[in-house]
This record gives sequence, structure tokens and C-alpha cells, in this order.
Amino acid sequence: MSENLVKIHEKLQDNVARSVNSYGCQQEVINQINYVKNKGEYKGAKKVLVIGASSSYGLASRITQAFGAGADTIGVSFERPVKDKTMLGTPGWWNNIYFKQEAQKEGLIAKNFLGDAFTHQMKQQVIKYIQTEFGGQIDLLIYSVAAPKRTNPDNPDEVWRSQIKPIGQNVSGYNINLEKNALFYQTIAAASQQEIAATIKVMGGEDWEIWVKELKAAGVLASGFKTILYSYIGSPATYAFYHEGTLGRAKADAEKSAHKIQKHINDIKGQALISVSTAVTTKASVVIPIFPLYCIALYKVMLKKGTHETPIMQKDRLFRDMVYGKKAQIDSHGRLRPDAWELDSDTQKQTVDLMNKITPANFNTDLTAYDTFRKEFLQINGFEVAGIDNTTVNYDEITKLKP
Ligand code: NAI
Repeated sequence: MSENLVKIHEKLQDNVARSVNSYGCQQEVINQINYVKNKGEYKGAKKVLVIGASSSYGLASRITQAFGAGADTIGVSFERPVKDKTMLGTPGWWNNIYFKQEAQKEGLIAKNFLGDAFTHQMKQQVIKYIQTEFGGQIDLLIYSVAAPKRTNPDNPDEVWRSQIKPIGQNVSGYNINLEKNALFYQTIAAASQQEIAATIKVMGGEDWEIWVKELKAAGVLASGFKTILYSYIGSPATYAFYHEGTLGRAKADAEKSAHKIQKHINDIKGQALISVSTAVTTKASVVIPIFPLYCIALYKVMLKKGTHETPIMQKDRLFRDMVYGKKAQIDSHGRLRPDAWELDSDTQKQTVDLMNKITPANFNTDLTAYDTFRKEFLQINGFEVAGIDNTTVNYDEITKLKP
């Protein structure tokens, strides 16, 4: 084998990917772009900033804005580059590169900032770029960060770590180990007060508020500016460890932030939105305890009904039909509800019935959508992508590419 060719194969450690196929990531970016292009153009934003832009919901949001609405985009993300032949970067690293390549082919600006979105430095770098090279203002800010930790921007010695735990009770149930293809029983211990507070710091709305404040103070928000954050409620079957757990508290905090941001941007006719989004397979969602079991039941039911969505399907629908369209489904709290298909009462009833039938012996059969769930996860990392059969990548060629 020539020296520049590196063998690649999927490598998982529990539910975390430890390898990547950059060619598969490229194809997946192109597939998402084609999905949007097939739906046609719509009138959306023109100058967009996406925080958490490199994968799943953030990437899909960026793709629909760029290729559906013709927007110039700035993406901020935290991704690892290629280190050596054994560590070929993270999927998000490649998504950034290939998104930019495709956007530039259409004459669109696609600027990537790699680093910690929680810092003041990152915010100031982005502001300077908007002022000097991006036309001076943005009209949409999408906040789609899922992070395990956040360093206090005003005190680098303080680090908050997010914990996905129930509150006030231990919760037990089956979870899936994707590496071992196994269903296993687990108990998640109740969170401490300190863990609840730390999760709110990481996954709540504080950083979103700081972004909007700093952008507004710098005068880079256009009149009619919109901003949106993705929340989750889900099924009563997952409330104990999600909606009523630490992450649910963080989402409730983010929803309060939306109200504070709204007051702050009223004078520029701004709009702060929450989209309660649907459950999808992502790097972040597969590590939520017990949640994968819910997904393989839910997807089975939704696939049968024709309502199952991947991130690009959900986000394209959100922006095309709801944020910039006339088909917004809004609840009594003013939140957009593209998750209505997931929460449909018959879908939920069938999902819960199915969850009750799943055992270690049958979870991996046609009874569930385990095959879809697993495949979607592998595709995030560039594996099992149709048409991409590579078992090697050209190291010299891929390391020349820059985000
Ligand atoms: P993901 O893990 O695929 O993407 C997270 C993004 O955040 C990546 O672009 C990553 O680079 C970026 N990021 C992480 N730490 C960062 C940092 N310090 N600085 C800059 N960027 C950073 O996650 P996913 O699932 O797409 O989640 C995005 C949002 O959608 C989250 O708020 C999540 O709670 C929400 N959501 C997800 C659902 C799901 O089922 N996956 C359902 C409903 C809401």
C-alpha cells in the first residue's frame, strides 16, 4: 500500500465513534444539500450565524439556509482536526470543510470558526468578521450547541460539566450499546443539586443570551433579526430522565432565556424563538441513557407512518414551513412545534406498547428500527453511506483540505 493511503474502518467505543470516513461525510453533506435543492428555493435569511454548525441539527440548519434560501453563513463549532494517521479528525471537521466547498461553488460565503463558542474571544472574533467581511449585519442566529462542558467565560478555573440524570429519583431501564450490539439494563442515579446547576450552565440559555447581547451591543443585528434555539420535550416515556431531569431543566432555562432575549431585541423588531424539536440520531442523543431504546421503538412506528425524520428533514421543514413560511405550529407558550409528529397520540401509544415488548433477545430484529438507528449513527461518522465503499483514504489529499 502506498504510504499516503490509510486504512479506515468503523470503530466504536460504547456509543462514541472513534473513527471517521471523510469521504462518507462529504457524501452525506452532498445528500443533505440535494434534499434541500429538490424541495426548491424559499425566502429565508440572507446572513446567518450558526453556533454548533458542524453536525446534525446545526449543520442541517446551515444547509437549508444556504441551499434553500441562498444565505451566506458563518459556522462556529468545536471540532478536532487530523492529528495523525490514527486520528483522522472528527466528522464535524470534515462537514465544515465539505459544506464550505459546496457553498463556495454556489458563490455563497461560508466562513468556519473552530473553537470554544462559550468564550468572549470567540464572540469578539465573529463580531469583527461580521463587521469587516460579512456585510456588517446578520439576520438570523441559530444556537445549536450540545456540549459536555463549559468553562466560565469570566473565570477559566471554573468548569461546569453537564450530566444527563434524573432529578429526585433513580431511574432504571434498558439502554443500547452500539459497539457491542447489545441491550443492557442500567440505573441512572439522581443528580445532585450541583450537577443540576452545572447542566443548566452548559445546556441552558445563558450563553445564547450572551451571544445576542454582545452581537447587539456591536450593532451587527439587522432590523427584523431572528434567533432560534432547539429544545426537547419528547414522550412521557422519557420524562423521568430527560424532560424532568437535568437536561429538561436546562431546556426550561433556555426557554426563559428566549423571553429575556425577546425583550432585549424588541427595539430592532427582533424575534427569539424556541423550536421544540423531534428526537433524531446524533452524536449527542445516542449518549443519553435509555433514550436509544425509545428511539428504536419510535422510529419503527414513525417509519411505518411515513413521519420519521432525519435532521435535514426536520430543519428544512422548520425553516421553510414555519420560521419563514405560513405553516407554523405554535403552542400556548409561543414555541414552534415541529415535534408534533413525534408526539402524535397514536404514535406515542404504539411506541410505548412496542417499548414494553423489547427484550435483549429481540431488540435487534424487525420488531424495532434498530437497523435504522444504527445506520444513521454510522452515517454521521461517514460509514455505511451509499456509494462510498472506501476502506482507505488518501492522507496527503485529505490533510491539504482546510476548514
Ligand atoms: P451534535 O452533537 O450533533 O452537535 C453539537 C454541535 O455543538 C457541534 O457542531 C459541535 O461542534 C458544537 N459544540 C459543542 N461544544 C462546543 C463549543 N464549546 N463551542 C462551539 N461549538 C461547540 O448535537 P445535536 O443533537 O445536533 O444537538 C444540537 C441541539 O439540538 C442541542 O441543543 C440539543 O439539545 C438539541 N436537540 C437535539 C435533539 C436530538 O434528538 N438530537 C432533540 C431536540 C433538541
